[in-house]
Amino acid sequence: MIVTTKKLFEAAYGKYAIGAYNINNLEQTMGLFRGNIESQAPFILQISKGARSYTHKTMLEGLIRSADEIFPEAIFAVHLDHGDEETCYDCIDSGFYSSVMIDASHEEFEENIAITKRVVDYAHAKGVVVEAELGQLGGVEEHIQVDEADAKLTDPDQALEFVERTGCDSLACAIGTSHGAFKFSGTQGLHFNVLEEIQKRLPGFPLVMHGSSSVPQEEVARINQAGGNLQGAKGVDAGQFKRASQLGVTKINIDTDGRLVWTRVHREFFTEKPENFDLRPPGKVFMTEYAKFIAEKNVYLGSAGQLEEVRALLAA
Ligand code: G3H
Ligand code: 13P
Ligand code: ZN
Repeated sequence: MIVTTKKLFEAAYGKYAIGAYNINNLEQTMGLFRGNIESQAPFILQISKGARSYTHKTMLEGLIRSADEIFPEAIFAVHLDHGDEETCYDCIDSGFYSSVMIDASHEEFEENIAITKRVVDYAHAKGVVVEAELGQLGGVEEHIQVDEADAKLTDPDQALEFVERTGCDSLACAIGTSHGAFKFSGTQGLHFNVLEEIQKRLPGFPLVMHGSSSVPQEEVARINQAGGNLQGAKGVDAGQFKRASQLGVTKINIDTDGRLVWTRVHREFFTEKPENFDLRPPGKVFMTEYAKFIAEKNVYLGSAGQLEEVRALLAA
């Protein structure tokens, strides 16, 4: 069942975070649904601009509709990840997405507000909810390169003004994370003090943490052992998700970790079976491993076991 992120956030706020996982293909879609059903978790399925153009945007919609049919128990939102204005309108018009992210965080404050407000007005008129972003993460966001040193954490006072003036439904905040597999070079971590200040100004308002892959060291070691080269890869400690959710983070974005599972499975498979050239055997291993990964991650997020409570809330 497709629902808005708003409904999921109402259930989760202050208690746990909903996992937001990116999909690009059939194997990720199957693994994602299986993992969330196995762990009885509501979830957010996210689609980036890159994912929409990988095969065809209609292909992804077809995959998701089929998965919804195969897993009738599932409760999830369909969300555009890091959209520009034009892509947001396309997703809203499609009638398929329940939520879009307008990411104008690279613009000046006033321009970010203006763009976000236009998208919010358009989306709300059609019952779609909007995530916006203020502040800049380190690493690469779509086509924009932000140096770690220049990454701008979200200003709590600006966050309040931004939410009031745009009417957005949730806010992605920069609190020290970055996209990709190389988040920290030393002992840096999450800036909980910034999150605390934002929550004080926006009590009850859903916050979003991007760049939240954990980059498990065991996964990295196995990839490197099987011929990869991911030296110095490091991610967010999943043990910190609980504290973040108590401070208002209701959506935690995870994509890189899934890519690492894919890379490990395929590297190991073809290293161990060099004579094999059938795509299905490693695909099957990947779906099982990805489902296992999702189920384990949902335990850290606190979303595991929440499915029936969310269903009851939706029915009330
Ligand atoms: O934040 C970006 C997500 O990991 C999606 O990545 O734009 O390469 O699909 P992508
Ligand atoms: P990771 O690169 O840490 O998985 O972050 C994904 C993300 O923020 C998608 O929007
Ligand atoms: Zn992101």
